Amino acid sequence: MKKIIAIALATLSMAAFSAGGGDYKPNDPANININDKMALQKGFALYMNYCMGCHGLQYQRYKRTAEDLGISEEVLKSNLIFDGSKPGDLIKTAMPEKYAENWFGSAPPDLSLIARFRGTDWLYNYLRAFYKDPERPYGVNNTVFKDVGMPHVLEPLQGVQFLTEEGDLTLISEGSMSPEEYDNAIRDLVTFLDYVGEPVKAKRQSIGIYVLLFILVFFILAYFLKKEYWKDIH
Ligand code: HEC
Repeated sequence: MKKIIAIALATLSMAAFSAGGGDYKPNDPANININDKMALQKGFALYMNYCMGCHGLQYQRYKRTAEDLGISEEVLKSNLIFDGSKPGDLIKTAMPEKYAENWFGSAPPDLSLIARFRGTDWLYNYLRAFYKDPERPYGVNNTVFKDVGMPHVLEPLQGVQFLTEEGDLTLISEGSMSPEEYDNAIRDLVTFLDYVGEPVKAKRQSIGIYVLLFILVFFILAYFLKKEYWKDIH
């Protein structure tokens, strides 16, 4: 019995923690909470302000997003939609792919599924890993995605980083946010991207916990029932 409980607990904890890793620096865990509505709302606002100009979310509708995140239609229309789209529209970028490729060397990809493709830890580190590099077309490079074609659009918030010879990033000019505030903002943004990658995830995870609890309770009942049946035989 002890062994079986141990296995059940191991399964539960495996569901709770998924492994990070990767061979890059910085390499911090994103520690997002997909059920944090406040983080999701702030992440959505950051996305609309800083990313939407180049990256669309082609499988996601404004209205559904606002509903899932607990944002009213008025706030959605007046504060989050900048290009005259209707609430029922898909979140498409106005950037024409053809030109984008000329401007940046490679077109900014749609980010609907980026959290699934790259993982949230990767995204969290990537968005904190831009540093000053005069040799690059936009004056920045990135330690997580070397020679990336994306300019550091969040530089006004983060400030400018410098890459030391040891391969560490240090802040050489401050932005409008402290490093801690910036990390939190990126965590919100990544939480939002994780939601976009799988809009039913939050719901699915809470159902999953109930299913596991049910299996556990059922197992205990079955065990005692079996003991009851066999007690006269031994
Ligand atoms: C000015 C245009 C522009 C803006 C604004 C912009 N990006 Fe990018 N982004 C790009 C380009 C171009 C690439 C492709 C780079 C490459 O492949 O070299 C890119 C690549 C990326 C990638 C890597 C995709 C991959 O291939 O794995 C991520 C993630 C990303 N951007 C996230 C963001 C987020 C989040 C924001 C908002 C904070 C943002 N971008 C704002 C232009 C932009």
